[in-house]
Amino acid sequence: MTTPEASDAARRNAPWPQPKPVPALADKYLNIEDLRLGAKRRLPRGVFEFIDRGSEDEASLRDNRASFHRVKLRNRVMVDVSVRSTEAQIFGKPMSFPLAIAPTGAAGLACYEGELELARAAARAGVPFTLATPSLTSIERVATVEEGRKWFQLYMWRDRAASHALVKRARDAGFETLIVTGDTAVPPIREYNKRNGFNSPFTFNAPIVMDVATSPGWMWRVLRPYLRNGGLPKQAHYPNDEKGQQVRMVGGAEQLRGDNLRWDDIARLREIWKGPILVKGVHQPEDVLRGIQEGLDGVIVSNHGGRNLDTAVASLDVLPEIVAAANGKLAVIADSGIRRGGDILKAIALGASCVLSGRPTLYGTAVAGEDGAVHALALLKREFDAAMAYTGATKVSDITAKCLWREADAPR
Ligand SMILES: Cc1cc2nc3c(=O)[nH]c(=O)nc-3n(C[C@H](O)[C@H](O)[C@H](O)COP(=O)(O)O)c2cc1C
Repeated sequence: MTTPEASDAARRNAPWPQPKPVPALADKYLNIEDLRLGAKRRLPRGVFEFIDRGSEDEASLRDNRASFHRVKLRNRVMVDVSVRSTEAQIFGKPMSFPLAIAPTGAAGLACYEGELELARAAARAGVPFTLATPSLTSIERVATVEEGRKWFQLYMWRDRAASHALVKRARDAGFETLIVTGDTAVPPIREYNKRNGFNSPFTFNAPIVMDVATSPGWMWRVLRPYLRNGGLPKQAHYPNDEKGQQVRMVGGAEQLRGDNLRWDDIARLREIWKGPILVKGVHQPEDVLRGIQEGLDGVIVSNHGGRNLDTAVASLDVLPEIVAAANGKLAVIADSGIRRGGDILKAIALGASCVLSGRPTLYGTAVAGEDGAVHALALLKREFDAAMAYTGATKVSDITAKCLWREADAPR
């Protein structure tokens, strides 16, 4: 019989898990855009647009992709790159390639208990998974996925006691890193959600009923199991109002307003949370300097995937300033708009320790649950590996700004 010590040792000595393309999906889904179109076919319009679209005029959403196209790669020639490793480390622990799954509230609408599927996929692929405050699956249920690294994202509510209780639950369930989202002071303006009748928590109204009726597959695969197991899908961590109904998302109810988060909140969180603490949504060098003073372990450069402040700067454009301000004193992570492995390489070359990826694995789960998310990660990793080979990198630490060409490099 295997003792717990022996199985721990076996786990320590086992090779770190890597994302592998899923054979059943490999011929049909060749890149993230294929998975996106697959998700579009399978989800009701309201759910797909909630996941896929941005805010207001969606200028940041478009610019996120454009920013990666503005920065070019340079070939490196005559270098032996026959032996390569994409493995990286963040906070002293390994990842199969420098990417973690970003927090995405309502991941459980792309597929049934989508957060569980994502956590399993992340473990299988050797990357961390971040559970969001507005997730549909609870902290404790996600913690039943034993393998893999788990991070928790916090939307700090006005009701500090309720927020701190949530953080304690994540700590007690073994989550290792805390991400405090700082870029959502007020609810974002996304007009299509109103037109589609899309609400969070999910409610039925005339447009949604019409919409869902045209997606019988989603009704069967996603809605039906929720209805059989307790009712309409709803946020697992949100309190109920006096009528026993779940209070609306961020900003929708007084106790859930998120507009008075301050730097001194970090000191209180630090008393509860001994692992790394990061602030997400950072664009200003002076916020990085303050973060260093407050003892943060990292910042996440992000415009929330173009979903919050429209025309907010693309992460890649502001990353060099943030990395310079960090000056190696804290980790800098970047997200928003990564759809190709080459994009990951560009962020690393500009000084990011790793990236977060939000929509790609959601598209994957909409197509094929855990397998679909693993497939998305495998596609990104394969492209990242290819970009490393072309730019002459055999390990992640070989990736530097020398791999890049930027407008500023043009002869004048
Ligand atoms: C459907 C959806 C829900 C999201 N929910 C959250 C959330 O609850 N908390 C948070 O900090 N960020 C949230 N985000 C933003 C992601 O964490 C991340 O910053 C963004 O998705 C990165 O851009 P990408 O989707 O282009 O990779 C969400 C993103 C999406 C697409």
